[in-house]
Amino acid sequence: MIADLCVRLPDPLLKIIQMFRDDPRGDKIDLGVGVYRDASGNTPIMAAVQHAASRLIETQDTKTYVGQQGNVEFLRLLGELAFGPMARDFVSIQAVGGTGALRLGLDLLREAGAKRVLLPTPSWPNHPAIIAAARLERVEVPFFDVADQRIDLERLLAGVAKAELGDAVLLQACCHNPLGADLAGEHWAALAEAALAHGLVPFLDLAYQGFGDGIEEDVAGARALLERVPEALVAVSGAKNFGLYRERVGALYVKAPAAARQAAASNLAAIARANYSMPPDYGAACVREVLGDAPLRAAWKSELDAIRAHIKNTRAALARERVNSIPMHLIAAQKGMFSTLPLSSEQIVALRESHGIYMTDAARINVAGLREADMARFVSALQAVA
Ligand SMILES: Cc1ncc(COP(=O)(O)O)c(C=O)c1O
Repeated sequence: MIADLCVRLPDPLLKIIQMFRDDPRGDKIDLGVGVYRDASGNTPIMAAVQHAASRLIETQDTKTYVGQQGNVEFLRLLGELAFGPMARDFVSIQAVGGTGALRLGLDLLREAGAKRVLLPTPSWPNHPAIIAAARLERVEVPFFDVADQRIDLERLLAGVAKAELGDAVLLQACCHNPLGADLAGEHWAALAEAALAHGLVPFLDLAYQGFGDGIEEDVAGARALLERVPEALVAVSGAKNFGLYRERVGALYVKAPAAARQAAASNLAAIARANYSMPPDYGAACVREVLGDAPLRAAWKSELDAIRAHIKNTRAALARERVNSIPMHLIAAQKGMFSTLPLSSEQIVALRESHGIYMTDAARINVAGLREADMARFVSALQAVA
């Protein structure tokens, strides 16, 4: 049986990462990778998180399983960070990163009878794979014009209007990957209307809270939608805003009427139990330690402020540049680490081969990967190809 398996193509991003590693040029620029980089190009452990980790090592006196739901205090604190007082309307379960939370949520939807997930595109390339793995049908709804760098609300709403009762719609809460183009207040309001009108269940992916305009600001639109709909799911990742990528910090939150919450929680527990049984503890325990301790929390917030400031400064520097076919000023107004440039495959290849500049095949750049020292070279390479 195993002998009959076909070889699958690797993730295209891994191919780019490998090409970058193999490139001998000393001045090559990596804008492909999806992790935060500081001004010197490093992805350091946040000091507050490091402090929490040391404290944990000193004080933790057992490594027995955490419960089926995971670290309950972590879930409470992370939920309050995402939803404020509305957190009490959600049931929650710890997950294996934001990806694991997406999968748990989609499995729950399927268990509840859902068949289709509407996916505004372009989106994170792993979304289609997770939807398929949960054996749900994906319905793509194009919603962004890359050439103009603008959200096309009419197209989004026209796509959403084709929803059938019980469909879900997967939306990114903030700092869109790969577009950087976040939904504005009026978009969220229109989507809430559409969800109510068509019986759509919103599923929000919140992976970059604090990377855009601020911890509260980044979730204002999502909260406005969540307040209006009776049912919703939210997958939260702690990979980026706590810098805990490899520790797989995440959680799924499900909003449901009070009478349905026990059933939702028990289904989530059953899905998790049959999948990985118990969640990992370390990263979640670090986050609980940071969020539950006022001085550590304040230190973490100011580190997150510095991350955001670095991204914003890089975006502002890009905005001051002029490249014929790219509306640079709009890219600067976008949020979070990513933007998708209006470049053809030939232009992407030319940037890579002639200039040593690496981005994804879909022209997504990680703005945080652009060091100040590389800015001029990046812009002149863009001017040369675009
Ligand atoms: C949009 C989006 N959602 C979810 C995730 C999942 O993050 P993780 O599984 O590492 O927590 C990512 C990570 O890149 C992402 O960009």
